[in-house]
Parts: sequence; C-alpha cells; structure tokens
Amino acid sequence: IFKDVTQGLPIEVFSVNKQYLDDPASTKVNLTIGAYRTNDGKPWVLPVVRKTEKSLAEDDTLNHEYLPVLGLEEFTSAATKMLLGGDSKPLLKGMTFGIQSLSGTGALRIGAAFLKTHLNRNVVYISNPSWENHQMLFRHTGFEKIESYRYWDEKNKSIDFEGLRSDLENAPENAVIVLHACAHNPTGCDPTQEQWIEISNIVKKKKLFPFFDCAYQGFASGNLGKDSWAVRYFANEGHELFCAQSFAKNFGLYNERVGNLTVVVNDKEKIKAVQSQFQLIVRGMYSNPPCHGARIVSAVLNNEGCFEEWQSAITEMSGRIIKMRKGLRERLEAKTKPGAWKHVTDQIGMFSYTGLNVEQIEILKKKYNIYMLSSGRINICGLNTNNLDYVANAIADVVGP
Ligand code: LMR
Repeated sequence: IFKDVTQGLPIEVFSVNKQYLDDPASTKVNLTIGAYRTNDGKPWVLPVVRKTEKSLAEDDTLNHEYLPVLGLEEFTSAATKMLLGGDSKPLLKGMTFGIQSLSGTGALRIGAAFLKTHLNRNVVYISNPSWENHQMLFRHTGFEKIESYRYWDEKNKSIDFEGLRSDLENAPENAVIVLHACAHNPTGCDPTQEQWIEISNIVKKKKLFPFFDCAYQGFASGNLGKDSWAVRYFANEGHELFCAQSFAKNFGLYNERVGNLTVVVNDKEKIKAVQSQFQLIVRGMYSNPPCHGARIVSAVLNNEGCFEEWQSAITEMSGRIIKMRKGLRERLEAKTKPGAWKHVTDQIGMFSYTGLNVEQIEILKKKYNIYMLSSGRINICGLNTNNLDYVANAIADVVGP
C-alpha cells in the first residue's frame, strides 16, 4: 500500500537544529530555530508563566472538560484586544472577534481554509523571502496560485519597497496578501509607518485581502502598541482582515501551541454566520483547541499585576536581543569596516538576515560548529556574552577583511 511513498524533504529549521543537538563539540553554537535563550544559552520559562502554571495546578475548580470549538472566550477577547488596542474602532463597534488556534500556524491554517472555502480566494501573495511554512500552508489548503512579492533588497540589505509596491499593484483583485505584522521573519526588516500607509492604500485600491501574521508582538520593540502598529492602522482604516497571533515567542509557550485568529469584519450582523463557518472548519480539522496555554495567557492578560510582570519579561528579552545585535556589529566592524554590518542593528526582532552565503555558512558549521539556516538567517537569541567573540571571530574569518 505504501510502496509509492517517496521520502519527503527535510524541514530545514528542525533538521539543522537536530544537527546542532547531535554535535558533541563543546564550542557549538545554535543560531537556528526561533526560540529565546537566556544569556546562559538556556530556554526560559517566563517567571510569570511559571507562577501562573503553579496557581492553575492548585486551582481545584478547574477541570479538563472540552473547550468550546472556538476556544476560551476570556483568552480570545484578551488576545484580540492586545492586538488591536482598547481604543480600536472595530473593537469598540463590536466588529471583531477571536478564534483560539494551534499557535500562529493554526490561525493561518483555519484562516486560509475560510478564505478558500467561503470567500472563494485562490491566489495568495507571500513576501520573498518569508517564513518557509507560509507557502506549504496555503498549498495544503488548496490555493491554486502561490505567488510572491518582492521584499528583500540584497544589495542594500533592506526592504525592496519599490519592488513590493509594484508587485502588490500588479496583484489581481481578491488576492490574499500575507503581511508580517512586525519583525519580519527571516529578514528582521519592517516597512516604515509611511510605507505601511502606502501598502494599506494599495490593498484598498486593489481590493486585496490582508492576512497578517503576528508572531512577535512585544518581542520586536518591547512595546505592544508599536509592534502591532500596522495591524491597528489597517483595522482603524476600515480594512476587513485576518491576523494570526502566536504566543509562542512572547510568552515562551512554544510547545503549548497557543494562538488566536483575530477576524475584523465591516458588517457586525455577519459575525454569527462567520463564526458558525469557522466552527465547522475547526470541528472538521481538530474538533476543539487545547486549554493549558490559553489559560496561562488569559490569566496573565486579564490580571494587571501579572500583565506588568509579563511586560518586564518581554522588555528583558527584547533588550537582550538589542544588546547582542550591537555586540555582534561592533565586533564584526572592528575586523571589517565601519558600517559594513549596520544591517545587524537596523533589523529588529529575533532574526538577522546576515547576508552570509551558503559556502560561508557551511564553513561556519564544519570548522566552527556554528549552525544557522542556509538563507543566512541567524537567531540572535542564540548569542550571549560567552559566545559573542567566538561567533564574531568565526564570521569575520569566513567573510574575510
Ligand atoms: C522559526 O522560524 O525558526 C520558528 O518560527 C520556528 C518554526 O516553526 O519555523
């Protein structure tokens, strides 16, 4: 029965991470998968998450009954408010709601299924480059055309805004446009506010459907409002949109798969019908969501004291990333030339798109046991005060003066 099944391609981010884990070298450095690490190179359970888990474990009123198909209401409403802001026009007018999802990926997946099945959308535009899973996800949903829009200017190591604008201008009406809300993965380069306004105008003029992916709110700048500026702007401008929210990075809840799909519509009379169709999509895919992660996020977002503790944790994480960026740039420029590594500090969020090529990346792996993606993307969180000199020296060595 299985004789014609061929070997699938490895998922790069997991396979390179595994190569790192299997490497016995004591000097090895993991700059692969997007997960936060402390300055000691350890995973971090946020103190407020640990505290909340303990109190949930001791709460005898809680049980393991099924959640509603669309998830824990106090979680989805808090997540939606966190994204759009308390003063959001659609929020105040009751034109938005959330659906609990299996992290950001699950939110993208059910959103894509809805767009395909109920809004007859078949064409999606994804930035080039983008998180590698975006393409596969829309393909598996049955989208007929997976297109890309230009995003990266290799020469200047920044956004190719002219290319982006022209590709969106030329996209066909009704196309779905996947936009990274902040801290673009993998480039770490976001449009400026003026550029977002232009994108919003094109999306409106060309009747495109904006589907935001928000995996790093609070993680890019430490400020929730700043990191969701683009989504808030679009929502207040009257766009109907989807936004997939992940709580993997900003709560450190990677394997709990906790996410939310925020839906903004212009006609609130349609919300019940839209929700009913999402219920059927979720029911047919995984029936209903898990509870643990959503309970944690909900407890933190809905409690002022816990919320403040969480804010200080994201400030600490984003602050450490910024320090590591500066440290890497300084060390590299000391060995090359001033300004040559400016992009490392211009980029934001977890990742830096270094511009290293495949041969250089291979040498870094073979000679120095430093692991990163073949695109040259590094997870800045893998850097710390103990390995920064080592990594910078190694990069300088492969790049040359
Ligand atoms: C990454 O980009 O490294 C993370 O978002 C992990 C993943 O699932 O790809």
